Amino acid sequence: MKNIDWGKLSFSYTKTDYIAYSTFKDGKWSPAKLIPDADIPVSPYAGAFHYASGCFEGMKAFRGADGKVRLFRPEENAKRMVRSAGYLDLACPSIEQFIDMCVMVVKANAEYIPPFETTASLYLRPLLIGTNPQLGIRSSSESTFMVMASPVGTYSGDKILVPGTAVISRNHDRAAPNGSGSYKVGANYAQSLHPYNLAHKQGYRELLFTDALTHQYIEEFGSSNFFAIKGNTYITPDSKSVLPSITNASLRTLAESLGMKVEMRPIPVTELSEMDEANSCGTAVVITPLSRIDDKVRLEDETPSHIYKFGDECGPKSRALYEKMIGIQKGLIDDPFGWIMFVDC
Ligand code: PLP
Ligand code: COI
Repeated sequence: MKNIDWGKLSFSYTKTDYIAYSTFKDGKWSPAKLIPDADIPVSPYAGAFHYASGCFEGMKAFRGADGKVRLFRPEENAKRMVRSAGYLDLACPSIEQFIDMCVMVVKANAEYIPPFETTASLYLRPLLIGTNPQLGIRSSSESTFMVMASPVGTYSGDKILVPGTAVISRNHDRAAPNGSGSYKVGANYAQSLHPYNLAHKQGYRELLFTDALTHQYIEEFGSSNFFAIKGNTYITPDSKSVLPSITNASLRTLAESLGMKVEMRPIPVTELSEMDEANSCGTAVVITPLSRIDDKVRLEDETPSHIYKFGDECGPKSRALYEKMIGIQKGLIDDPFGWIMFVDC
């Protein structure tokens, strides 16, 4: 195992040894190979650079209590990439190739998988980009698929389950009602960069987007989905422009298994005043609680028009969900859902 201060890791790039790499040209994929984790030669005319012809995934490899290495629901990530690539009309690896290359990169970088005792994990970043040289606006005819790996700690850089603040954006949109919001394409993240900078400059940890049509309903964070707890009910937005989060889908199943009611429906911002617990959820953030969500007419305003408070400690239901989720991912409790794939390394 590498000599890394695992406890100090946040969600940032740490160089590892290998990237799994394959290219699509003349109608077929090249055999997947390992290349060094270093710069790669790509045409400056590649569609990915100019027309955002690219999509990606995020997943984690965990070292379990039994020393075994686990991937969480990789097939779901593979299927979502097929959907995202379909949106871009970009050639995409099959589910089998996607998973094989994830396994390949985990094995090749096994020394970077953090020890069980830490809260760190090995983050995998599958990336599909259009790479043929082009000028006109059209889908790329050649693509490159890579799976990168990097050990990471918490997304917030804080200890796990430490609540942070978020601000609601009503005047900067992430995704149009009939746009790309439900696909994991790079373009969605470009839309969020400037408003994130505004939010971060004001000291907020997260930015919560509203629907682009009315700005009355909660959509999701730039990095993750939103869910709240009201009494014994798990509530999360139902929207065509929100990314279908694998973590959120899994938490809904876990919530039901814990005897909670689950609602997936439009959530007016004003309903936040009735919520007991509010969180972001996703692969990178896992479950990250919110202590406060500020509503602003304009993100640039100094003073919020309304403040919603959820307390300075993670709520009990959110904590129970976190423990179940991490318990399965790290092999501390049984996986009755068949979510875990073991990697022999
Ligand atoms: N929403 C956005 C915008 C994201 O980037 C992510 C991260 O992948 C999520 C939600 C959570 O999705 P998942 O749980 O599949 O990681
Ligand atoms: C993930 O959770 O995997 C994401 O892609 C979100 C981003 C913050 C890295």
